[in-house]
Amino acid sequence: MTKKNSVFIATSIDGYIADKNGGIDWLHSIPNPHKDDMGYAEFINNIDALVMGRTTFETVCEFDVDWPYDKPVFVLSNTLNEIPQSHVGKAFLIKGTLTEIIEQINKKGYYRLYIDGGTTIRNFLKADLIDEMIITTIPILLGGGSSLFTELPNELKFELITTKTYLNQITQCHYKRKK
Ligand SMILES: NC(=O)c1ccc[n+]([C@@H]2O[C@H](COP(=O)([O-])OP(=O)(O)OC[C@H]3O[C@@H](n4cnc5c(N)ncnc54)[C@H](OP(=O)(O)O)[C@@H]3O)[C@@H](O)[C@H]2O)c1
Repeated sequence: MTKKNSVFIATSIDGYIADKNGGIDWLHSIPNPHKDDMGYAEFINNIDALVMGRTTFETVCEFDVDWPYDKPVFVLSNTLNEIPQSHVGKAFLIKGTLTEIIEQINKKGYYRLYIDGGTTIRNFLKADLIDEMIITTIPILLGGGSSLFTELPNELKFELITTKTYLNQITQCHYKRKK
């Protein structure tokens, strides 16, 4: 089975994934009357498990909807000692270096991983552990907030696989790591 670490995330034009207050309402600022999922279902059908930072995990837990994942979610945290009772069996705490974490998850039979959360994605990129990124750009300048990217020890080349436009307003680029 091919191992793959993927990012599927939406940003503002200025590269933020959350606004100055940590909010993500702006993700829905373009009217979407037919609820186009912008490739999400196809993406998630082709992954085996998620690796998620604690902040993003807690954000999803607070959404006023049922738990949205039918795949295991591995939560990274140095402060959580256990998964809240409400999410036991759905989410699993995992600890170690990123390489150890990936090995532990691969050993459980999950190879195609969806890496989610700002700090988490930045840490994976610093260690050159991301194989593909699908980045959806919402046409808004937030002027500040939580950046998707930060400085890296080395440049990382990516190859553009596709670009798509949704709702006439939103662009989505699929990049593959070029080694
Ligand atoms: N625009 C989008 O599509 C999108 C998608 C996802 C998230 N978001 C937003 O982005 C924000 C989350 O960003 P965030 O920067 O806080 O990132 P995050 O990656 O969700 O969470 C960061 C936390 O994860 C834990 N962590 C990360 N790497 C770790 C490691 N290697 N080992 C142990 N623990 C690790 C730490 O938790 P502890 O502090 O517990 O140690 C850290 O504080 C939220 O506002 C969320 O709503 C937006």
